[in-house]
Amino acid sequence: MSTNPKYWAAIPAAGVGHRMGALSPKQYLDLAGRPVIEWSLKLFLDHPQISGVSIALDPEDRFWPQTAFADHPRVRRVDGGSERCHSVLNALDLLAQEADAADWVLVHDAARPCLRRDDLDRLLAALPDHLVGGLLGVPVRDTMKQVTEGSAVRRTVPRDALWHAFTPQMFRLGLLHQALRAALDQDRSVTDDASAVELLGLEPRLVEGHADNIKITRPEDLTLADFYLRQQGHPGHER
Ligand code: CTP
Ligand code: MG
Repeated sequence: MSTNPKYWAAIPAAGVGHRMGALSPKQYLDLAGRPVIEWSLKLFLDHPQISGVSIALDPEDRFWPQTAFADHPRVRRVDGGSERCHSVLNALDLLAQEADAADWVLVHDAARPCLRRDDLDRLLAALPDHLVGGLLGVPVRDTMKQVTEGSAVRRTVPRDALWHAFTPQMFRLGLLHQALRAALDQDRSVTDDASAVELLGLEPRLVEGHADNIKITRPEDLTLADFYLRQQGHPGHER
């Protein structure tokens, strides 16, 4: 293993945004004067520890070339796949042309534009000596119910040990590649990167972040994201 691993970012951005129901994919919708994806990317491009970014896009994507970072020297584009995990794998393959297997990769959803710099820094600071890697999240606040298919409550699930899993999720490039490949080979559905690593029997670490790191999913989330960016006093908010 290299003693001085580098840090890279992989951004899955090949989704169509079904639940958003907009004319263009949600990562290209306007948020405070910029497309959502620019907010999500900027933090990584501005960060001195991040060596480069690979971004997985729909092969038919015609919106990306119009965004501010399309020609950025540290951004590389690759085709996404049918599910998020395929898109991430393609982004990792691209990174592997330059990166070492022991380098760290931070996988971050293009649809999460409100990540704070201090949360990113906390994740980076928490994990360098960790054997597995980890992710940002927040503890669940609401009372949690397990229900039947007919929505009858079966029981109340103790929430002490429950967290919402966010991104970035940070793993060694080689380990994450192996984990996602194994999950796909076994036909196991994984909705995030950590769950693929968990299937290997490993225990990623949860690092507490802020609850405003939301994933834009439905139309009302855009209003909320606008509010959070404003509240964070984001310098680029007015552009
Ligand atoms: N993503 C991707 N490739 C896919 C599916 C999703 O790169 N085949 C990306 C999305 O662009 C998004 C992130 O993974 O940045 C999280 O996925 P999600 O929120 O589910 O986005 P969509 O799949 O676009 O939305 P929906 O599920 O509502 O269609
Ligand atoms: Mg999806």
